[in-house]
Amino acid sequence: MLDPKMQDAFNDQINAELYSSYLYLSMAAHFESINLAGFANWMRVQVQEENFHAMKMYDFVNERRGRVVLAAIDEPKAEWTSPLEVFQDTYEHETKVTGLINNLVTVARELKDHASDSFLQWFVGEQVEEEQNADKIVQELKLMEGFPGGLFMIDRELAARVFVPPVAAA
Ligand code: FEO
Repeated sequence: MLDPKMQDAFNDQINAELYSSYLYLSMAAHFESINLAGFANWMRVQVQEENFHAMKMYDFVNERRGRVVLAAIDEPKAEWTSPLEVFQDTYEHETKVTGLINNLVTVARELKDHASDSFLQWFVGEQVEEEQNADKIVQELKLMEGFPGGLFMIDRELAARVFVPPVAAA
């Protein structure tokens, strides 16, 4: 049985993961509108990642006989001035999510809820990857600044991303 404080924290995080999904879908729509299909593809895969994160928590709350309660999802930003700005926002957003996950771990430890603590460690590792993925593209975009064709090259690279559900770790 989940402590109500832990349950509320998971419900808040499910909302944050769904907001992340919505934000990346907004970024995908932005890239579609400026004909950067590879960038849009990367964001669409990111949407699937975030939905996976939300559902992983949803399932855990139910397994613990908790109650998932969904709240309104905030409206995401819709316009950006450059692909670099989009990925800087992505990186910054992921660092915020890392902070939220760390807060959840703190709640679990305060409550001596070892099952939640253990479950959350998957997300701790995932956030290292999430920050690294966004930062890698920020650095690439900075290197390519002013280089004709650079954006096109990165667009082709990002077109290859596919969503692979992390079944083994789930
Ligand atoms: Fe669900 Fe991008 O962290």
